Amino acid sequence: MTRVAILISGGGSNMVKLVEAMQAEGFASPVLVGSNDPMAKGLEKARAMGVETFSVDHRGFGKDRAGFEAALSAHLHEARPDVVCLAGFMRVLTPDFVRQFQGRMLNIHPSLLPKYPGLHTHQRALEAGDAEAGCTVHEVIAELDAGPMLGQARVPVLAGDSADDLAARVLVQEHRLYPEALRRFVAGNRHFFSL
Ligand code: GAR
Repeated sequence: MTRVAILISGGGSNMVKLVEAMQAEGFASPVLVGSNDPMAKGLEKARAMGVETFSVDHRGFGKDRAGFEAALSAHLHEARPDVVCLAGFMRVLTPDFVRQFQGRMLNIHPSLLPKYPGLHTHQRALEAGDAEAGCTVHEVIAELDAGPMLGQARVPVLAGDSADDLAARVLVQEHRLYPEALRRFVAGNRHFFSL
């Protein structure tokens, strides 16, 4: 059975959808959920679903990114994951870390990549006057929010949308997109798909 670890930083709604899909359908096993924030709300949700959790507080490491990542990867390796899913994990990972999981680490990003890597994606889409927005699941490579795209989902931008309105509309699609991308990835299907 494919073993999946998930990294989060906040509420973990995408993590919940991934765990629910795996537990309901049995295509993979959620073995671990971790966070860089011990107070992340998602940790409690993961435990409530019976998934083991850990946290490594990045603030304790100051500028020592290598130390933070060493602690993170020690936890991850202990769980022997076949796939690592970043789900709202808000720390930039170094090339050394990424290399350990390259080809088996996925991320969800709230824009139609290659548009708007980085932060404030919805605000940037609004400021650009885009007619549509969306989200992307991609394989993680050293370059931020780059790497082969597995799938995308699109939503319209509506007149009068705030960044929060758009974020909420995109999040609904994230919750459909990420489980489908993981299902396909676990099955060895790397063909790009759209929802
Ligand atoms: C999601 O919208 C995800 O796409 C985004 O953070 C949110 C996490 O929500 N990720 C990034 O911006 C990564 N750079 P969640 O904790 O409820 O899943």
